[in-house]
Amino acid sequence: MIVVISHPDDAHAMRVIRCLEERGEPVLLLDLAQLPRHATLTVDYRHGPRPQIRYRQADGTVHPLHEASAVWWRRPQAPDLSEVTDPQTHMFTANEWNEALNGLWQLLQDARWMNEPTRDDAASRKARQLRVAAEVGLRTPRTLITSDPDEARGFIRDLAPRDVIYKTFSCTHAIWRETRMLREADHAQLDTVQVAPVIFQEYVPARADLRVTVVDGRLFPAAIAWTPRAGSIDFRRNVGEATITAEVLPADVHDRVLALMERLGLVYGAIDLRRTPDDEYYFFEVNTAGEFLFIEDRTELPIASAIADWLAGRALSLPDAVPRASARPRAMPMDTIAS
Ligand SMILES: Nc1ncnc2c1ncn2[C@@H]1O[C@H](COP(=O)(O)OP(=O)(O)O)[C@@H](O)[C@H]1O
Ligand SMILES: [Mg+2]
Repeated sequence: MIVVISHPDDAHAMRVIRCLEERGEPVLLLDLAQLPRHATLTVDYRHGPRPQIRYRQADGTVHPLHEASAVWWRRPQAPDLSEVTDPQTHMFTANEWNEALNGLWQLLQDARWMNEPTRDDAASRKARQLRVAAEVGLRTPRTLITSDPDEARGFIRDLAPRDVIYKTFSCTHAIWRETRMLREADHAQLDTVQVAPVIFQEYVPARADLRVTVVDGRLFPAAIAWTPRAGSIDFRRNVGEATITAEVLPADVHDRVLALMERLGLVYGAIDLRRTPDDEYYFFEVNTAGEFLFIEDRTELPIASAIADWLAGRALSLPDAVPRASARPRAMPMDTIAS
């Protein structure tokens, strides 16, 4: 059995599940938000050292999770504790679930994981990614992460007259902060970095943004060419009008991306690179469970199918990606391009 940890509104999970079903593979969508009301979990140590793990759905169906051959750590949900209204009890209950579930993943270590959760967690930290990327020889922008306004001013001064951008570690659907150019007017706001650290970087000019989706050592690189809207330097603001085409990376960049994945212990990753007008390749980040449908749907690069093959334990036998013209650009709501 293949276990996909996500939820029914995740189009990525559903696409891969469809691929698996077409191949006749037994697959379970494990939506952790079904816990605790609509599903139960049991870890049973009575039958020897290897516990049986039963996930029972409301209709009585029992899924033996200990038989999982592969697990896709895609969009794990939190158990739905909305009925636990007392804040202290809520915190306690959430923590109990957290402990139980984190222990559970440790029991599934015989399964093949895309990606193993503790590695995924460690690899998703931007601070670490920039270091490992530089160590494997990828070019990274000069960067300062700081909550110290004086350090920020010093960085900006050192880079002058080069432009500086600033960006956040993450965003939520409610608070979406794209990468922005630091303008003269922003200098007066620099004291506010003390509230929470900010990532400052040298501005890297673009010929194209690249999204390189990696599935077990196989690269699916795509170029995203876009014309900036007024004042916008972040491709996600412009992706609706962008032309997306399959791309071939130079051999050295290809190998360094593979080395990065290896060092981070990732089977899957969606990597943001930028090609400058001088044809230099800069690394921005790896999204450990990054989206790929906006690439697949506009280039026909067979990413979902490669993920399904890997989960099913089949060799990735598809022909190498061939660059092809992009389909007509389609409008796309910005928030579908999470990360
Ligand atoms: N140093 C930079 N110079 C120019 N543009 C950048 C820089 N860093 C990020 N961007 C733009 O902003 C986008 C988002 O930044 P990224 O580092 O991928 O973080 P996240 O996607 O988590 O916000 C990039 O894909 C790129 O379009
Ligand atoms: Mg990004």
